[in-house]
Parts: sequence; C-alpha cells; structure tokens
Amino acid sequence: MPLFKWKDSYSVGVEELDLHHKKLFGILNTLYEGSLVPDGNLDIADKIDALIAYTEYHFAAEEEHLRQIGYVERESHFRLHRSFIKKVLRLQRKSHLPAEELTQELIVFLGNWLLHHVLEEDKKYVL
Ligand SMILES: [Fe+2]
Repeated sequence: MPLFKWKDSYSVGVEELDLHHKKLFGILNTLYEGSLVPDGNLDIADKIDALIAYTEYHFAAEEEHLRQIGYVERESHFRLHRSFIKKVLRLQRKSHLPAEELTQELIVFLGNWLLHHVLEEDKKYVL
C-alpha cells in the first residue's frame, strides 16, 4: 500500500505541475516501499541523485509558471525551492551513513516537505 495517495484536491490547476507533483509522490512511495524490503537494493546515492534531478526539473517549470502568472510572492517561494535542494544535497553528503538510516531520513524529510510544500505553499499560487 503506498504511503501517499494523490487526491484531486491537491491539484494546483496546472496539468503539467500536477503530473510533476504526482511523480514526486511516486518517488516517495518507491523509496518507502524499497525500504520495507529486507536486503532490498538500497542504492540510496543514485536515488538521491534522481530526486535532485527531478525536483530541479520540476522547480524550473513551476518557477516559470509563477513568473508567467505574475505571482507576487514568487521570490520567497523560489527560496523554499532552493532550501529544499540544499537540504537534499546535505543528505547526499551523508552517504557514509548506513543506507537504511539515510533512506529513513530522506523518506521523513520528503514526506513532510511534500505535505507542507505541495499541499500548502503551492496551493497559494492557485488562481
Ligand atoms: Fe513549489
């Protein structure tokens, strides 16, 4: 059973950005499901790399949308995006930790961030 299930009420009213958010939920579910499998292949460094690459791609699209709609609070929203990337990069530097520990930390961080950011901060720019 996935940790997170997408609901229509999470929509930000832009199909492309909703697809990105769904994909982020999917990444979180995959991390979580992978962590439940004993001796599962926890190639955490690769997973963190993939998460960073995907979120940078998503943030670029979302930031472009916020510029297009002239969202007044966009600079502070962009700062939230930068701080997310910084935090994930900090986790990446902890790659000496056991994979299970790092995965748990990543799941908790990403879960809290998705709940707060996508469901609250991103909702503020919905027209
Ligand atoms: Fe955002």
